[in-house]
Amino acid sequence: MAAVRALYPALADGHAYLDGAAGTQVPISVIEAIAAAYRAGMGNLGGAFPASGRSEEIVAGARAAVADLVGGTQEGVVFGPSATALAYQISEALSRAWTPGDDIVVSRLDHDSNVRPWIQAAGRAGVTVKWAEADLVTGELPAAQYAELIGPRTRVVAVTAASNVIGTRPDVTAIAQLAHAVGALCYVDGVHATPHVPVDVAALGADFYTTSAYKWSGPHLAALAADPELLETVWPDKLAPSSNAVPWRFERGTLPFADLAGITAAVEHLAALAPASGASVPGASPASRRERVLASMTAVESYEAALFGRLLGGLAEFDRVTLYGKAARRAPTAFFNVAGATPRAVAEHLAARGVNVWDGDNYAYELCTALGLEPDGAVRAGLVHYNDASDVDRLIEGIADLAR
Ligand SMILES: Cc1ncc(COP(=O)(O)O)c(C=O)c1O
Repeated sequence: MAAVRALYPALADGHAYLDGAAGTQVPISVIEAIAAAYRAGMGNLGGAFPASGRSEEIVAGARAAVADLVGGTQEGVVFGPSATALAYQISEALSRAWTPGDDIVVSRLDHDSNVRPWIQAAGRAGVTVKWAEADLVTGELPAAQYAELIGPRTRVVAVTAASNVIGTRPDVTAIAQLAHAVGALCYVDGVHATPHVPVDVAALGADFYTTSAYKWSGPHLAALAADPELLETVWPDKLAPSSNAVPWRFERGTLPFADLAGITAAVEHLAALAPASGASVPGASPASRRERVLASMTAVESYEAALFGRLLGGLAEFDRVTLYGKAARRAPTAFFNVAGATPRAVAEHLAARGVNVWDGDNYAYELCTALGLEPDGAVRAGLVHYNDASDVDRLIEGIADLAR
């Protein structure tokens, strides 16, 4: 842990960064990759000179890196400014083929970026919106309800791979199977899941899978992974002279080349967190980056699970703390309130002690409304791989001042 934490310059300020669910810090390798891209001389794509060629290599490298992170193919990786922007773009494009009488299914568990774009597209197309409900006591999103919700006219099922507040990881594979059985597409929000678990888009059954690099030690941009053959069937609004090819036609305007160099560095950073199995066997061929990513993320998942147990155990000591959600499979993210203090007051109290947490609904708007938590939401403390026991203990000590 000391070696991993030393890679992150920002952690040297002594704060307990439990705000990773809203954006992680970046390791020095990412900062240097971005700086190196600018330092080398930067050109736009398609030029006759070397700086242009360097940008082309950066884009190709970043597509390959994201494909290795989520198990997709690089020809199916689309970059965008944010997962929200990508959801708007894909929902707008897909909804042109919807007709009244069709329906879509969204979930009450999701971040609003995988809800509102679909609802607004459905409104324009005159399409029915069906809701999958989260169990407000357990925080589960039961997959069985999708058998009732999905029908022959269902076009899209939009669901999260992990809640960004209560951490619930629904059975996306089962949900996607039900969607595919009627020919519907499954659009999976992988923004909160990707930093915490090994991801395999094919195993999930995700037709579209979004992930935001700034949640996994990368720069502020997002990617969508899909089968290139599926992308060939989708036509977004685009400029006349820009490429009609997949995945380029989904990318509006000039890509942020230096940040894309940072994406590749972030995936390399994740891949190096744990040794791949067999890596130390003499004579064995070196593990691929995909294999190293899977080994690392498996290690990250178990490391975070143990630390999350410490966090949950600490919070459970206080009668005045209400914790939301207790799903069986969950990302290491706690969402809670302290009786007698607003979420903002708790966050300010912790900030004064050098502990960074979020307060509010964190855009899990439907879930917070259903839980009766709007407009203040709750306090969110989320773990990522660079957090350690001292971060958790400082959170618990800070809450103890308030909750005893
Ligand atoms: C689960 C989830 N989905 C979507 C988003 C939105 O991502 P972006 O900021 O890239 O639009 C977030 C951001 O917090 C998130 O946590």
